[in-house]
Amino acid sequence: MMNFQAVTPANDNQPILVQAVNGLRSALASQSWDALLSLTHSWSGQLKKDAWRCLSQKERQAIHLLSASNRNRLIHGDCIHVMKTLPNCSVDFILTDPPYLVRYKSRDGRSIANDDNDRWLLPAFSEMYRVLKDNSFCVSFYGWNRVDRFMEAWRKAGFTPVGHFTFNKSYASSARFTRSCHENAYLLAKGRPDKPQKPIRDILPWKYTGNTLHPTQKPVEPLAQLIAAFSKPGEVVLDPFAGSASTAVAAWQTGRHYIAIEKDPNYHAIAQQRLSRLGE
Ligand SMILES: C[S@@+](CC[C@H](N)C(=O)[O-])C[C@H]1O[C@@H](n2cnc3c(N)ncnc32)[C@H](O)[C@@H]1O
Repeated sequence: MMNFQAVTPANDNQPILVQAVNGLRSALASQSWDALLSLTHSWSGQLKKDAWRCLSQKERQAIHLLSASNRNRLIHGDCIHVMKTLPNCSVDFILTDPPYLVRYKSRDGRSIANDDNDRWLLPAFSEMYRVLKDNSFCVSFYGWNRVDRFMEAWRKAGFTPVGHFTFNKSYASSARFTRSCHENAYLLAKGRPDKPQKPIRDILPWKYTGNTLHPTQKPVEPLAQLIAAFSKPGEVVLDPFAGSASTAVAAWQTGRHYIAIEKDPNYHAIAQQRLSRLGE
């Protein structure tokens, strides 16, 4: 248990502030980053500033330390619920590969949670919009035959489509009227981000992963290119539909921090194992 020097809020006739500072201190005493996030996510900017001013130097340092050691996080859970515990405007870039709404089943029988309904679509993208910093980007993969549903949800959540990527496969993942040799993702903006000095090409190469860890496992290389283009080293990248954590691996490789959320316990365990081997 940590011991902090008690500092009384400057104006102790403000019960909300006193309660807020006491809450911060008890989250710090239990060294719980999750408790700290869920406590503060509904606070106004002013309450955060006032509570921060009431903390001692030692307590502020302890919060910085707790934050630094919780930057890389793989969380098991439903991303809509988990994102609700993240503060507004707290991530720098979102790169995600949600279910394509196609009831996908791989040849070996693996399936994807929530691929059979779109009830999660607007709530998930609304939460992504809230937690993303202003004037920042989200890149979302999507299934071409459900583009209308994705576009409606993205726009309703507040995003503006500002670019589109095609990933060129050297093999066909399926064949009907055409042989499917590409994947797609939209570049979505929150606010009005600055234009990059050297914009990247919107056609990117793709390598087959073998889908050994996940039935729709994305290759790390193009994900790393997107992260490098739309975020800076040391920033936080969120993937709420993490699967086997390919985005988190790409974030780690490019010197970013990651928050990865996965609902399926099996894929979460695979992601955990994969991330535990980083740096070996
Ligand atoms: C298309 S896959 C992502 C694959 C990932 N890009 C990879 O390379 O492994 C989508 C993932 O989202 C997960 N998922 C579906 N609904 C979810 C939810 N509400 N919260 C968190 N994860 C969810 C599925 O279990 C699945 O693993």
